[in-house]
Formats: sequence, structure tokens, C-alpha cells
Amino acid sequence: MKKLVILTGAGMSAESGVKTFRDSDGLWQNHRFEEVASPVAWQRDPELVLEFYNQRRKQLFEVGPNAGHLALVRLEEKYDVHIVTQNVDDLHERAGSSNVLHLHGELKKVRSTLDPSMIYTLDHWELKLGDTCEKGSQLRPHIVWFGEAVDMIGPAVEVVAEAEICMVIGTSMVVYPAAGLINYVKDKIPKYYVDPKAFHVQGIRNLEVIKEKAGIALPELVDKLLKQ
Ligand code: OAD
Repeated sequence: MKKLVILTGAGMSAESGVKTFRDSDGLWQNHRFEEVASPVAWQRDPELVLEFYNQRRKQLFEVGPNAGHLALVRLEEKYDVHIVTQNVDDLHERAGSSNVLHLHGELKKVRSTLDPSMIYTLDHWELKLGDTCEKGSQLRPHIVWFGEAVDMIGPAVEVVAEAEICMVIGTSMVVYPAAGLINYVKDKIPKYYVDPKAFHVQGIRNLEVIKEKAGIALPELVDKLLKQ
């Protein structure tokens, strides 16, 4: 089976009703990320940080995968599919994709502030001040905040470097190190970039740009790849 690696960003989940970050009315239009998504914010106002992620988590319990997520699952009939996502939602998993690596953490998971290896999955949306791990320390969102290390970047580079086909879906490709992953993809392999506002890509060979929403473009692209 050929290895097909798919890099996804917030645009992948936009049609499920999850806001992106940098589009008009995106999350970073209404919140300063320094105030809700950084270690400094957590020190200064943990309640505000918890509330920001509680609202995101609450919404996640209310939405579901879209036609784009579902299309990607079908690729597993023919390919060894690896999804590397910047998204913190679980919509790829709920659609049925088997192999998903989360670069920026997971919204439904929380972890101990004392021992980062103590990770728990929430079955409800609200994390409060006073919710603690077994050792008595406050729990925090299992999210990579600005200024924190992206621990999963090593495994992501490994998988991307072995890709025989690559897809990039719904990301503005501005946040590093995730945006740098494309540089590890082999020159000679076919690449597809699906984003209605796909930026002008220079210097990447064998790239087909599809300026369309994921939910519309992916069912068609997946059909094409399954026929090849
Ligand atoms: P952005 O909000 O920066 O970019 C979203 C991209 O999705 C844009 O290029 C849109 O054109 C595209 N888009 C919108 N609707 C779409 C649709 N229906 N189908 C396909 N594409 C669509 O989001 P990311 O690139 O994912 O990190 O942002 C990267 C990181 O920045 C996030 O993981 C987050 C944020 O700060 C952290 O919070 C650590």
C-alpha cells in the first residue's frame, strides 16, 4: 500500500461549524492568543483560559464530521493513510480515520500541571479551577500553547518524509513548526493542496492546488485517487 500523508488545519473542520483562526470572524479576530493560549495567560488568568477552551470543547460535543472528513476515511481502502493535524478537535477520529497524529494537542484531553504524563479524556465539556489529578494538582487543557514545545513534531517529520502522496487541507501554513513539514515531503511525489484561499505556493514541485472547500473538493479528489 502506498503511504498517503494528509496535513490538515482548521479549514478541514470549518464546514462542521468549527471556527478557523485567521479567517474573518476567526478565533484570533475575537481573542488575543496571548491572553488565552499561552503559559503567561495561564499564570495570569487561568479562569479565562479554562473558559476559552471550555467553550471550544462545549461546541465540539455539538458538532460532527463533515463530508471532507468522511471522504478521507475511504482512502484507507487503498492507501496506508496517515493524518497529521494541527486541529485539536476529534472529528477525523469520529469520522473513522484510524491514524491521526495531533500536533497541537487535543481538546477533549486534559493533563496534570504537576506531571504532564498524567493525561485524562473528558466525557463532558467543562474543566474548572479545582479539578485536579490524583496527585492533587490542577488540570489544564492538553493543548500546545504559544511558546510551548511541539513534542509531536519529530514523529510528524518522520511520517511526512516517507510520504508517497501528500495532501494539505485547510491551513494557512503560517504557524511553525507545523508549516515547515511541507519541506520534508519528497520533491518527486504528487501533492494536493485544498483550500479556497490557497496561498501562492512557489518552489514546490508536483503540486496541484484546488481552490475549493474541503467538503466539496475532497469527495471528488478521493474518488480520483481510489481509481488510480
Ligand atoms: P487558520 O485559521 O490560520 O487557516 C485556516 C485555513 O482554512 C485558511 O487558509 C482558510 O482559507 C481555510 N479554509 C476555510 N474554510 C475552509 C474550508 N471549508 N475548506 C478548506 N479550507 C478552508 O488555521 P490553521 O492553519 O489550522 O494553533 O492554524 C494553525 C494554528 O494556528 C492552529 O492549530 C492554532 C492557531 O493558532 C494553536 O492554537 C497552537
